[in-house]
Amino acid sequence: MSSQDAVLTKFREYTLGPLRFMNLLSCFELGIVDSLREDTGGGLTAGRIAEKAGVTPAAAEQLLHLLVKEDFVSFDESASTYALDGLRDLTGEDLARVIPWMNMVKEVCLRQLYHLSDSVRTGSVVGLKELFDFDGNFYEASTRYPELQASWGSMMDQVTDFIDPWFYDQLDVGKDTKILDLAGNTGLGAILAYRHKGAQGTGNLQVTCFDFPEKEAEARENFRKHGVEEHCSFVGGDVFQGLPKGYDTVMIKHFLDMFDQENVYRIFQSVHDALEVGGQVQVLVPIYPEDVKASNAVDFFPAYMLGCTMAQGGPQKISTYEQWMEACGFKVTKAISQDISTMPPDVIPVHGIICGTKMAS
Ligand SMILES: C[S@@+](CC[C@H](N)C(=O)[O-])C[C@H]1O[C@@H](n2cnc3c(N)ncnc32)[C@H](O)[C@@H]1O
Repeated sequence: MSSQDAVLTKFREYTLGPLRFMNLLSCFELGIVDSLREDTGGGLTAGRIAEKAGVTPAAAEQLLHLLVKEDFVSFDESASTYALDGLRDLTGEDLARVIPWMNMVKEVCLRQLYHLSDSVRTGSVVGLKELFDFDGNFYEASTRYPELQASWGSMMDQVTDFIDPWFYDQLDVGKDTKILDLAGNTGLGAILAYRHKGAQGTGNLQVTCFDFPEKEAEARENFRKHGVEEHCSFVGGDVFQGLPKGYDTVMIKHFLDMFDQENVYRIFQSVHDALEVGGQVQVLVPIYPEDVKASNAVDFFPAYMLGCTMAQGGPQKISTYEQWMEACGFKVTKAISQDISTMPPDVIPVHGIICGTKMAS
């Protein structure tokens, strides 16, 4: 293939991406995939699938063409029936990882990215203004619009559930430690930190979730549901207005990538101000690999950060985060990246852990 044809082929794939995406997701939303999963009779006609989905047989047939092309579903020409093919191989765990991402991309990304160029030009999330008449970033908007919180929150909890055990395995916790989970959302990180570390001879481990005050009710309800109210608490605030003092360790998970360098420095400065000398900062953050071509993260984060959530930010290389942490008065004690070869192929972000100790100035 000539290099011109190779580029044109890529353009074709990019153009088709959003249409394929919605075709596949609709097959889940309409219950077409569920009907096929539940079928024990060796195949269903388009008519039967359509009846269950409440759509016309012609529309069901149209949507199924792509799934047949992709070998997700098979079509038996002689019986005119459909059955699961590749989709049969996906476990419940696979779907629990993949579907929240697809829902989030539909709810949070598709509409807002129509305005990506304007968001980049203006440095504001124009999609939120156009769609919700909202001035501010996505995280502020998500406290106001439950549908945004629901789709984004399920994806975020799934990422937290999936990635964070690796982080907690590395988390250094002494006896009677007080941890602040900076930007801890609705408390899942605090609960997981306590669950992973509380039983390891850590004495009276206390984990406080710090996030916007609007998250407090849901966080407290989560602590109650998980029976960890004795060990997990919530403090509302804005990191740019300062952090509460009295903590030994500050965890910062899935947060620094939301900001440009200047604001990452302000966050590190807030943490530095809140900690005593010797206090720890332990960061979990999506990163770009040193070789940008070895990553799917650059396919996702620039458009997501600039057009959907913050109109700034995006991950950095781990070496950059190390430099930034050191520049803000910490001695970096650990910097490691996830091993991509151990991750399922659908997983988009690759994370790094960077830890530091506050040095005497
Ligand atoms: C990507 S989420 C990460 C949530 C959590 N750390 C985790 O690991 O799942 C970013 C969180 O930052 C919070 N946030 C955004 N800006 C903030 C600010 N200025 N001060 C405190 N929290 C903030 C949002 O409300 C949201 O819960």
